[in-house]
Amino acid sequence: MLSPGANALTGTRFTGPRKASAPVLDVPKTSTGTGSVVATTTVVELTGAVVDSLPDALVPAVVDDAGDVAEVHAPSIAAAPVTATTKRRSLTCLVGSAMLPADDTKEGNVGLLDGKVAIVTGAGRGIGRCEALSLASEGAAIVVNDLGAGLDGTGDRTNPAQAVVDEITAAGGRGIANGDDIAGYSGAEAVVGTAIEHFGRLDILVNNAGILRDKMSFNLEERDFDDVVRVHLKGHFSMSRTAGAYWRGQHKAGNPIAGRIINTTSEAGLFGSVGQANYAAAKGGIATLTVVLAREYEHFGVTVNAIAPRARTRMTTSALGALEPEPGAFDTWAPENVAPVVAWLATDQAAEVNGQIFVVWGGAVHLVAHYQPAGSIVRDRAWTPQELLDNQAELFGDRSSGIPPFPFGM
Ligand SMILES: NC(=O)c1ccc[n+]([C@@H]2O[C@H](COP(=O)([O-])OP(=O)(O)OC[C@H]3O[C@@H](n4cnc5c(N)ncnc54)[C@H](O)[C@@H]3O)[C@@H](O)[C@H]2O)c1
Repeated sequence: MLSPGANALTGTRFTGPRKASAPVLDVPKTSTGTGSVVATTTVVELTGAVVDSLPDALVPAVVDDAGDVAEVHAPSIAAAPVTATTKRRSLTCLVGSAMLPADDTKEGNVGLLDGKVAIVTGAGRGIGRCEALSLASEGAAIVVNDLGAGLDGTGDRTNPAQAVVDEITAAGGRGIANGDDIAGYSGAEAVVGTAIEHFGRLDILVNNAGILRDKMSFNLEERDFDDVVRVHLKGHFSMSRTAGAYWRGQHKAGNPIAGRIINTTSEAGLFGSVGQANYAAAKGGIATLTVVLAREYEHFGVTVNAIAPRARTRMTTSALGALEPEPGAFDTWAPENVAPVVAWLATDQAAEVNGQIFVVWGGAVHLVAHYQPAGSIVRDRAWTPQELLDNQAELFGDRSSGIPPFPFGM
């Protein structure tokens, strides 16, 4: 049983090489004013070894007669005109930015997450880094977890987590680095143990860590399927299970709980992207896991929600290029656009938001309905195949019976 100060967890610290090299995102320090995002469709021509590095969240691909991916269409950003007001310092995930107070429109150093303790997995880079900085800017102490792997989960291990902790502490926040692999029970227990041993409690878990190994299904190696599902789906589950056990124990001990889990799914997982069977299946599993955990944890004061982000990170730039905004335009792809949604879901005030999924990029936050009935034919005895053929049109109504389209301009 986990409890504050307990030693039952191994609580390991970063054990890899100490050399830290967190990439610094080249994003504008502020973005103010009103801008509109122009709808574009990028077609990335891919041939040969294509499918080795399809980006996340990229979808309809054109498959040639031989079954190879011929081209992959990047998301078409068709967001409504955006009014960006990023005066809040909590929106920055920039080196050296002052983080306290989180919102300089507030009185004093009051953050929405003052006194909270958060874990962000995979927070050494990309979206997770911005999430860690955003939560810290609102007053939370952060366990910055990252094992520092390559995009595909392999390669030399660095220590990007420590560089993010250095940013947090330099700005007056509190953080500790953790380099455990979140994709199993022992690693998850070590990460949660780090929060409890170092900060005395846990309030917020942001499951974000992930890897990518894209190939068409008929070319996908067993190991590439297993590893991607392990890191994403088992990683989310292992962390959530361990945190849930801790919160349940606290609840049973009579302590008030406002636990928060924010998972990271993907449009790939929600809508099914070509060339990403491993990744999309794992992300789809995370979407359903989110609802399961929301139902299981609700009665002891924990909400569980998920975001499906789009952002400029190595996952996307590896295939789509720099994704830099036009000069003076709102930076739709900036990863710091995603982080405030996570911070919102982490607040006590968001207690009524539970089991929900949001597609998030730029200035857009889309609420996505999970699987819902879309058509029915019902009677008091079983259907025969011929009767189903005869009633197919009624079942589908106005809807297409073909492969469901991608929403959001993809
Ligand atoms: N970038 C996008 O547009 C996009 C779109 C949809 C979903 N996502 C999801 O957002 C999350 C963050 O992605 P990103 O784009 O910032 O990628 P990223 O590669 O920049 O960051 C992922 C981080 O996770 C870490 N990591 C990998 N395996 C780990 C493990 N087992 N234990 C601990 N840390 C581990 C990596 O070292 C890396 O720093 C992922 O879950 C990704 O699938 C991203």
